[in-house]
Amino acid sequence: MSVSDSGSATYSEALEGSNAKRGLWSSRLAFILAATGSAVGLGNIWKFPYITGENGGGAFVLVYLLCIAAVGLPIMMAEVLIGRRGGHSPVNSLRLIAERDRLKPAWRMVGAVGVLAGFLILSFYSVIGGWAVSYVGTAASGQLVGQSAEAVGAIFSNLLGDPMTLLLWHTVFMALVMLVVAKGVRAGLERAVSILMPGLFVLLLIAVGYAMTSGEFGRAVSFLFQPDFSKLSTSGILVALGHAFFTLSLGMAVMMAYGSYLPKNVSIAKTSIAVSVIDTGVALLAGLAIFPIVFANGLEPGAGPGLIFQTLPLAFGQMPMGSLFGTLFFVLLIFAAWTSGISLLEPIVEWLEERKGLNRTASTLGAGVVCWALGIASILSLNLWSDFAPLGSIAMFEGKTIFDLLDFFTANILLPLGGLLVAVFAGWVMSREAVEKELALSGPMFRLWYLTIRYFTPVAVAAVFIYNLM
Ligand code: PHE
Repeated sequence: MSVSDSGSATYSEALEGSNAKRGLWSSRLAFILAATGSAVGLGNIWKFPYITGENGGGAFVLVYLLCIAAVGLPIMMAEVLIGRRGGHSPVNSLRLIAERDRLKPAWRMVGAVGVLAGFLILSFYSVIGGWAVSYVGTAASGQLVGQSAEAVGAIFSNLLGDPMTLLLWHTVFMALVMLVVAKGVRAGLERAVSILMPGLFVLLLIAVGYAMTSGEFGRAVSFLFQPDFSKLSTSGILVALGHAFFTLSLGMAVMMAYGSYLPKNVSIAKTSIAVSVIDTGVALLAGLAIFPIVFANGLEPGAGPGLIFQTLPLAFGQMPMGSLFGTLFFVLLIFAAWTSGISLLEPIVEWLEERKGLNRTASTLGAGVVCWALGIASILSLNLWSDFAPLGSIAMFEGKTIFDLLDFFTANILLPLGGLLVAVFAGWVMSREAVEKELALSGPMFRLWYLTIRYFTPVAVAAVFIYNLM
């Protein structure tokens, strides 16, 4: 994946010569850092293992991988190409392309879906980010050393049962996100993440190594990779599809925003594949670290959102230097969640700046505080309101708390809907010529992508929607 990996350099780019190349390379790297920073987060380490456990393992993982390859990747390419072609913030890019190509301005709606989704996701994302903050202290103070599965489980249920503590850590996490967005210092953080992300990778490998030697690794591998389709429900397919969008940060125009910084001669396909592969790799490693411990300790794979907070601490408590590794792991998890949280807040802040004419600090404060307040509903659904299911009378939402509903509605409905609109925009609304030029793929590869984005992706997303509604 070198800088010269695309044959589409224009005459003026060719004239600029090698000095320009260094600049181009750094912004290609900047794109990969920003995009993986957004993509790799709690979705990979917290959400993927627990929804895999809840949905029976192998068959779910297989469908999820298919969704990444056949739906997520083509849509990521579409988002990046729209962003690069428009060259502005998502809402303006869509408008500019629409104006230039004489299309309806209603396409700005894609940006609006993104703003709403980001807002709702961040409200509960920050609560889970808060759990990670809290576990830094738990691991650092040595509380995990030599603990039994029950004791580690009790630490977690005590945390969930305590709204004030949850609120404190939720506040800390949201403040971290707001600070960076308000100051616009994300470039520094992204560079830091280029060191920290490999660190997270190494710590996950250490956890996998521990799981290999001390856990039931073979059972975990067959749980994750031997599909048993009798365990997969239709709602499981929707969850897998929704998670493909969530984990790759698709459907809310994040990749569109980042794509606008991508130099013209960088291959959109190769770059998108790199981001998807890293993201999927982190999720699978998390699964391989967690499930051997689940089986070795007789824990429940379908334990729900607390899964990683009940298994990894157990492993860290038993391995040599566990307090150190555990502390480091949760610190790195915070960084991963932090960069994702920033990319969730950014579109809302940009929208407030553009639409309401507020300055950056005011937009960040306004959006952040409302989002923080909404997070309190998710906090309460973990304890005082844990029996409150607002839409419980509808069969599909039976027993779902506010937290569950927010997660379901955003990941499984809003993001796929946003992605569907992106696919239709790139496949049907933009001119084929423009799209072909941006992607600069070989003939057969372009036709494959174009058929996927025009027919397969919209039909697949719509089919999963309709099937689940019925
Ligand atoms: N992809 C992030 C994660 O997996 C979450 C996210 C979703 C971020 C949508 C931005 C947009 O944790």
